[in-house]
Amino acid sequence: MRAFSPRIRLGLLLLPLAGCATPAATRAAPSLKELYAAKFQIGAAIAPSMTRDPALAALIARHFSSITAENAMKAYAIARGEGVYDFADADALVAFAAANGQIIRGHTLLWHWRSATQNAAPDWFFEGDRAAVQRRLETYITAVVTHFRGRVYAWDVVNEAASNSDGETYRRSRWFEALGPDYVEIAFRAARAADPDALLFLNDYDTEQPGKLARLMTIIDALKAKNVPIDGVGHQLHMRFSDDIAGVRAALAATEARGLVNHVTELDITLYEDPASCYGAARQACEAAFPGPPPADRVAAQARLYGALFREFAARPSVKSVTFWGVTDALSWLHGFPVARPNYPLLFDADGAPKPAFWAVASPS
Ligand code: XIL
Repeated sequence: MRAFSPRIRLGLLLLPLAGCATPAATRAAPSLKELYAAKFQIGAAIAPSMTRDPALAALIARHFSSITAENAMKAYAIARGEGVYDFADADALVAFAAANGQIIRGHTLLWHWRSATQNAAPDWFFEGDRAAVQRRLETYITAVVTHFRGRVYAWDVVNEAASNSDGETYRRSRWFEALGPDYVEIAFRAARAADPDALLFLNDYDTEQPGKLARLMTIIDALKAKNVPIDGVGHQLHMRFSDDIAGVRAALAATEARGLVNHVTELDITLYEDPASCYGAARQACEAAFPGPPPADRVAAQARLYGALFREFAARPSVKSVTFWGVTDALSWLHGFPVARPNYPLLFDADGAPKPAFWAVASPS
């Protein structure tokens, strides 16, 4: 019998090992940012505390090429008062990203949202007449964009400008009440002036819903008609496990038709089947928390939807960035929204192990 070369003998020795079925959770997870490098950036929204957890920091460095500050670049984190800025948390995230060779999406210069502890539209902005409000908005955007010039390559300039109601284009936010629809244009022009190289986005949720998409596109068309500098649309894509991708396709196509870039900015997939009323005043309509681990059929449906989404993103050259709103299921805004309840919306479980959703994204076909 012919003798095998030492290399082949070693190969034969290792063969049974290679043939072993390795459980998905322990299989070496390929780096997502490497898998998609030829297509688009893979991003994660993170909090400063995550960078201080060594295992989590390593996971973030391995899989993501782009970083978004989950909260640290919002007005409630930066502006302590008119003209008083605290960039400490945001700068820490910028340093973390730089150390890992990651680029940074800025989120967000203008938002309407407020809770008991977080006010993205601080009261001092709205004191005085229209001219005073406009001047403060311009001053704030100029200061923040200038601070991060050359380090933040793209900004969500305005977040959630479109209304949720048919027959009403703009959300009736305090910004709209103070400045009318012009506030969007004012914000974009100030951002472009402060950093001509930064890409500028209008970011919104439910763009996969036809009504919301139509309203958002009405705003975009108005901006473009006035030559307002806008480079792309940010699609938050906070989705449900039972959704399909038809609406996402329509949203990406509508953006392409206007010559704009698509960024997916806040992707996650809830495992709860909440009715629309749950997102309104009737929070008791929300589905009750699962008594134990999440149902296996929903975990599988979530993975299928993630896979279908990534097939769609990869097929569209207009998609330049896909960011998840978080990293592991241990920490997600969906533990508190729309009601307090454990949720499992991301690719990694609470221990950082890849879920079926991860494997669907890692091999979408
Ligand atoms: C959320 C954060 O994840 C929470 O920690 C914070 O309490 C509220 O804001 N749409 C957005 C994001 O544009 O900025 C929101 O982030 C989630 C919904």
